[in-house]
Amino acid sequence: MTYKHAKTLNTSKDFILPCRKDNLKSIKQFSPINKPDFDGSFNTYQQLYGKDGNRIYLIGLGEEKHGAQLENTFQKLAFETQKHWDKSIQVYAEDLTEDEIKKAVIGLEMAQYEIGEYKSEKEKSNKVAISFTSTKSIKDTLEEGKYTGETINKIKALVDAPPNIKTPEFLGDWAEKSAKKADYKCTILKHKELKKQGFEAVLSVGKGSVNKPVVIITEYTPKKSKKVDIALVGKGITFDSGGLSIKPSTNLHYMKSDMGGAAVVLGVVELITKLKLDINVVGIVCSAENAVDAESYRPGDVINSYSGKTIEIIDTDAEGRLVLADGLSYAVKNIKPEYLIDLATLTGSVVRTLGYEAAGMFTHNKDMASTMSDIGYKVHERVWQLPMFEEYKSDLHSDIADIRNFSGKPLAGATNAAQFLESFTEEHKNWMHLDIAGVSFGASPYAKMKSASGYGIQLITEFIKKKASK
Ligand code: BES
Ligand code: ZN
Ligand code: ZN
Repeated sequence: MTYKHAKTLNTSKDFILPCRKDNLKSIKQFSPINKPDFDGSFNTYQQLYGKDGNRIYLIGLGEEKHGAQLENTFQKLAFETQKHWDKSIQVYAEDLTEDEIKKAVIGLEMAQYEIGEYKSEKEKSNKVAISFTSTKSIKDTLEEGKYTGETINKIKALVDAPPNIKTPEFLGDWAEKSAKKADYKCTILKHKELKKQGFEAVLSVGKGSVNKPVVIITEYTPKKSKKVDIALVGKGITFDSGGLSIKPSTNLHYMKSDMGGAAVVLGVVELITKLKLDINVVGIVCSAENAVDAESYRPGDVINSYSGKTIEIIDTDAEGRLVLADGLSYAVKNIKPEYLIDLATLTGSVVRTLGYEAAGMFTHNKDMASTMSDIGYKVHERVWQLPMFEEYKSDLHSDIADIRNFSGKPLAGATNAAQFLESFTEEHKNWMHLDIAGVSFGASPYAKMKSASGYGIQLITEFIKKKASK
């Protein structure tokens, strides 16, 4: 799809007419129909024919509160009707705000996502030129929407990719290609380098797989100052079998999505590079496959970590926190960022607590929490803060090592994981952990099985935009 700006609407050609709830524009000027049986409700649309036999799609924006998820409506309209579109279609954007235009483009672009990448016969995509008509200047908004939609589709493709193809090395290749194309720096640390630098926790988790772990470091640093404003750390477990503490087989295939945090980190760094934001950001992805093998790490093992802290393994299925521990320690020691945010599909516990509607947010920083929460509502990628009370810490006591990776109790699982991570942040004042296990992968109206949601791209990009100098 291409997105262009046009000053005027050609009413004899196909167009999309956005309508607010119970406030339908007089459509008489566009169609012989006096009053359509349509009320502008959110996520609905109706097709009419204009005087010249052209298609007119009335699309419901709903109420103000629906603005945060406007992309859904445009995605639905495009997904269901674009096969009928000609080479071009217009969107009447005169009465839309900048945010609404951006969301509309994101939704239209999201409708281009093709989940059947591995089918032998692919569906033909229909390349359409979409022009947004407005007397205002909206070129940058269109571009931002297009880049954002494209990035969401790219990270969805990564999360949906099968784990035999999407190995840690595959994620590294993805990042290298993206870095070359978008023009940011990318370093891949492979086995030898990981050993040399002491990423012992990452190495332990990856021991049972022939697909060896990698750590990916992406750097977008356009500012003169060397100081890194934000470091993002992502959990990149390309398949989580649970390891020797093996998971039950029901829905095990969905554990290919255990790199949802890594996908957000990779996508956001690419996107902010394209948006040319004035801010220094480093992305760190710790990637491994948690597999079952004679070489696998075991419950009872005591392993080392990048920080030098020793960890007693109680459960090999609590592997995400181990790879993140190394990523966080690396960031604190070498990057020293102003803000440190990690994203991970970390616990089943957060899914039981918040379901599919919000990520679990953990931080001691009230300002960061409130900023992230506000952005979450604005882009409809919501977060909900969960506690970090000190009392939970005692659950991670180990008699024989510095810390253990699991309390062994079926209690406060998401908080316990967050407490574990915290002990590798050296009390960084601006650290936040987002547990995205419930939101990054799930049911979708566009697929029969669970699939990637694209959660996190808009949330983190908006956070970075807020911290970037204007
Ligand atoms: N990858 C899982 C968490 C997960 C669960 C992600 C459901 C997406 C959907 C994680 O590595 C895990 O297995 N966590 C365990 C930890 C436990 C063994 C301490 C959990 O939450 O059950
Ligand atoms: Zn696990
Ligand atoms: Zn996992």
